[in-house]
Amino acid sequence: MSALASDARTPEGAKFGSCLSPDLPEPRLISFGGAEHLLRPLSLSDADRLIAFFQSHNEETVRLRYGYFFREMTPSRARDLVGVDQRKDLALGIFSTRADGTEEIDAIGRYFLLEDGKAAEMAFIVRESKRRLGMAQTLLHVLKDNARKRGLNELVAQVQRENHGMIALFRLAGASVRSVLGADAVDIRLPLHPTTP
Ligand SMILES: CC(C)(COP(=O)(O)OP(=O)(O)OC[C@H]1O[C@@H](n2cnc3c(N)ncnc32)[C@H](O)[C@@H]1OP(=O)(O)O)[C@@H](O)C(=O)NCCC(=O)NCCS
Repeated sequence: MSALASDARTPEGAKFGSCLSPDLPEPRLISFGGAEHLLRPLSLSDADRLIAFFQSHNEETVRLRYGYFFREMTPSRARDLVGVDQRKDLALGIFSTRADGTEEIDAIGRYFLLEDGKAAEMAFIVRESKRRLGMAQTLLHVLKDNARKRGLNELVAQVQRENHGMIALFRLAGASVRSVLGADAVDIRLPLHPTTP
């Protein structure tokens, strides 16, 4: 099932978007599973929300996302994850608003620039109760769009071989999938200019 982008701009635009980097995606409202969510760049003010999001994950989710299991998301690690330099890296969240009015994170998609400055490595994580609503696919679409505008050639990832959902999603987006010799992982490469020879 795919998400329906309403592209409604919100006042958060000034707060979370352009003040960090002029080419950041504008905050927008999107419907997932019939409910309105906000997609916007993460910022340092999201550190506590990231810790709460982490506490909702089961062991498999943590292992698939981070490559190993750990029990605690420390405040310092959370700050590192939300406070990235959005001028070269990109970290986006999808948020919903609870009945008491507080905002919580339902999904994160990010990339960080690799050393050559022409490719970036991606990672995704979606709340277990909100899977198969199109959140990761939407985040991938926005990441790709932004990376292309920034002049990158490709987005890459290394994914555990057993992670059939993530691999299926990357294949859908047109990525190549190759086994990593001697590792229980596959290499994902998603060209951003597929028609360029
Ligand atoms: C992998 C993950 C990010 C997918 O997020 P998601 O929001 O549920 O994915 P989407 O709803 O955008 O899926 C889009 C399409 O990808 C494919 N897909 C996604 N998850 C799938 C699964 N578990 N099995 C098979 N296909 C899957 C489907 O084709 C799906 O479309 P459909 O639902 O209409 O059939 C999520 O399962 C997750 O957080 N996993 C744990 C963390 C992780 O593995 N991170 C990856 C490390 S890079």
